[in-house]
Amino acid sequence: MSDTATPARTTGCPVAHGPLSSERTPTGCPVSQRAAEFDPFEDGYQQDPPEYVRWAREKEPIFYSPKLGYWVVTRYDDIKAVFRDNITFSPSNALEKITPTGDEANAVLASYGFALNRTLVNEDEPAHMPRRRVLMDPFTPEALKHHEPMVRELARSYVDRFIDDGRADLVDQMLWEIPLTVALHFLGVPEEDMDTLRKYSIAHTVNTWGRPKPEEQVAVAHAVGNFWQYAGKVLEKMRQDPDAPGWMQYGIRKQKLHPEVVTDSYLHSMMMAGIVAAHETTANATANAVKLLLQHPQVWQELCEDPGLIPNAVEECLRHNGSVAAWRRLVTRDTQVGGVDLPAGSRLLIVTSSANHDEAHFSDADLFDIRRDNASDHLTFGYGSHQCMGKNLARMEMQIFLEEFTRRLPHMRLSPQRFSYVPNTSFRGPEHLWVEWDPAANPERKNPALREVQVPVRIGEPSRHAIARPVVVERVTPVAEGIVKLRLVSPDGKPLPRWTAGSHIDVECGSPGLSRQYSLCGDPDEAGVLEIAVLHEPEGRGGSAWVHRQVKAGDRLRIRGPRNHFRLDESLAKAIFIAGGIGITPVSAMARRAKAIGMDYELHYSGQNRARMAFLDELAALHGERLQVHASDEGRRCDLHALLAEPVAGAQVYACGPLRMLQALEDCCAAWPEGALRVEHFESTLATLDPAKEQAFEVELKDSGLVVTVPPDQTLLSALRAANVDVQSDCEEGLCGSCEVRVLSGKVDHRDVVLTRPEREAHNKMMACCSRACEGRLVLEL
Ligand code: HEM
Repeated sequence: MSDTATPARTTGCPVAHGPLSSERTPTGCPVSQRAAEFDPFEDGYQQDPPEYVRWAREKEPIFYSPKLGYWVVTRYDDIKAVFRDNITFSPSNALEKITPTGDEANAVLASYGFALNRTLVNEDEPAHMPRRRVLMDPFTPEALKHHEPMVRELARSYVDRFIDDGRADLVDQMLWEIPLTVALHFLGVPEEDMDTLRKYSIAHTVNTWGRPKPEEQVAVAHAVGNFWQYAGKVLEKMRQDPDAPGWMQYGIRKQKLHPEVVTDSYLHSMMMAGIVAAHETTANATANAVKLLLQHPQVWQELCEDPGLIPNAVEECLRHNGSVAAWRRLVTRDTQVGGVDLPAGSRLLIVTSSANHDEAHFSDADLFDIRRDNASDHLTFGYGSHQCMGKNLARMEMQIFLEEFTRRLPHMRLSPQRFSYVPNTSFRGPEHLWVEWDPAANPERKNPALREVQVPVRIGEPSRHAIARPVVVERVTPVAEGIVKLRLVSPDGKPLPRWTAGSHIDVECGSPGLSRQYSLCGDPDEAGVLEIAVLHEPEGRGGSAWVHRQVKAGDRLRIRGPRNHFRLDESLAKAIFIAGGIGITPVSAMARRAKAIGMDYELHYSGQNRARMAFLDELAALHGERLQVHASDEGRRCDLHALLAEPVAGAQVYACGPLRMLQALEDCCAAWPEGALRVEHFESTLATLDPAKEQAFEVELKDSGLVVTVPPDQTLLSALRAANVDVQSDCEEGLCGSCEVRVLSGKVDHRDVVLTRPEREAHNKMMACCSRACEGRLVLEL
């Protein structure tokens, strides 16, 4: 945000606007030209929303759109902050018409008694949470399993219909209808009413999120009015048979127990809105996913060869090209987002598809990488207390469709075509998706049994362990006594993902069960290459011994990542880097980066003797006097107490090395501001969970409004997953920090090696994979 060419800062606004238009925001701040031009109904937005707002994400992350009358929010952290606080940012406008309709259309709607009101997605607290809780059970992974055979059978029989044709419009011939049928089954709609409801549902999208032309508005209003009345009739029919399966019947039964929570208005509105929530989102998401995959034929081929990648590919498709491009919130009190003042009453368009391409959260964000290990951090399902309840049903459907296509039509390709979209702000997917293939090459002509094969669906967030990335060892170089450097490249000439200093990768050391984390130590600016240095530890758990014994140039390895829990804050005034022994690996990359961006830094590197210290010459050449080498056998131990005696304003200490050194550093930095010491560990101290010695405890999830019990034989992480709450994880032994959750109250029994002592004592974060409650209940920001 440093566009000095514009006078924006004279207005007091923290955002650096581009060239200014004559328009002003409701706060009086001048609107930039680009903000004035923003129009989400234009083809540019429809074709590629994150690209359309790239300028904003990079320069003017929150701007006012005079054409829309909304503030537009484009960055990941800002959008997540909005999702987190559903009191300040009310969801009540989520289903409001984004384009107000004229009197005639309104009169038509009124003539049908149209009264679509609060459901769940647009309900405020305190009404929303009790309703969500009461209606949640049919969405648990256990309950969703029962729908799997139905989805699979539908997918199989629809593909049967066109597999011998050599050409199909996947949207018209499959992807539009199946999610609708699944949605109707899930809701419990009787078979005989399905066709009618099918016809009406699209009108609701145009009515809510679209900009129908004045002459279309009346026709849309009739369709929506009919939809509303028909939904009412179907609901009445359901009331006659409340024990039938279906989420609506479940709601009808719950209404008897909690009439004030599950109201009549809710049921009627949900009968209509639920179809759209479950149908178009999923139909569009699958069409977007197939399109994206076929636009990347090499990725498609990898997926066909390894269907185990499908669950993560689904997440990456939802991230890269999801079906909900933006969502809405209403500001209820004067507040700020990303430093921009937003008065009460402001309407927000939160462009989740832009957040999903935010480099600050997803490294190499525009790269379509089905092995990306934080792909499921995407915000396409929203976040927090309103996060999509149907996400795991949608994931299941998408997995089954992709499994069906990759197995039966691996030779499918995109036909030449221009994609069109129904112009609207939020729901996004191609109206048609033409694909073609040679039917003579259909694999099941040779092997009919292929039609029946099925890969078990993973209900919930994908497992990290299924997304290993093949790499080839280009070179193995000894870099010190007992240390080798491995230079890894991609096996197919495609560049490996870009990485940032401090990142690590997981390397499978000989078998999928044995994987070890190694920090990247090369040059982050050298595209497409990953370098690690591995110290031979004869007393270790076998990973390093395997690398030293087995690995040679030309070998193929399987890795996961890169992933970064040890990020360099590039805005610092100064960084003090401290490395002990092999801890030099991440630290060397960070020091290189500090130098590249012109940051003030010093680098202290300790070891037993110079022969056992890697990269000494290279470091000396690069860092000159900023490098201090402390070799014990030369009597030059690093005096950490002296080095860190006085806190340095605006500085941070980054350290990696043996546990003893890191513990000592905590004492040395006691006088430094909280968070000034950042460490990276290599060794876990975690024992296996012994149920006989553990206590059950409860966690209250503030953002989602749930209370989850963690039994003595389960970790917090597994209990959260069983309750349908997504939490990232990686090593699951308290080492990597990826499952960190924020703690709002309660005392934590910390068992990880990631947090520093002050962090542990603050009890405001914990690692879900291993840490527990000391006593009683914890309140988490989840
Ligand atoms: C809410 C997206 C599929 C049911 C939401 C929200 C989004 C979303 C963005 C609002 C989140 C928020 O405000 O934080 C999607 C996408 C889907 C999908 C992208 C498919 C890929 C489904 C399915 C169902 C469903 C299949 C039902 C069977 C719901 C419900 C809510 C919701 C009930 C309201 C939750 C609440 O407010 O508490 N969805 N959805 N969704 N979705 Fe989905």
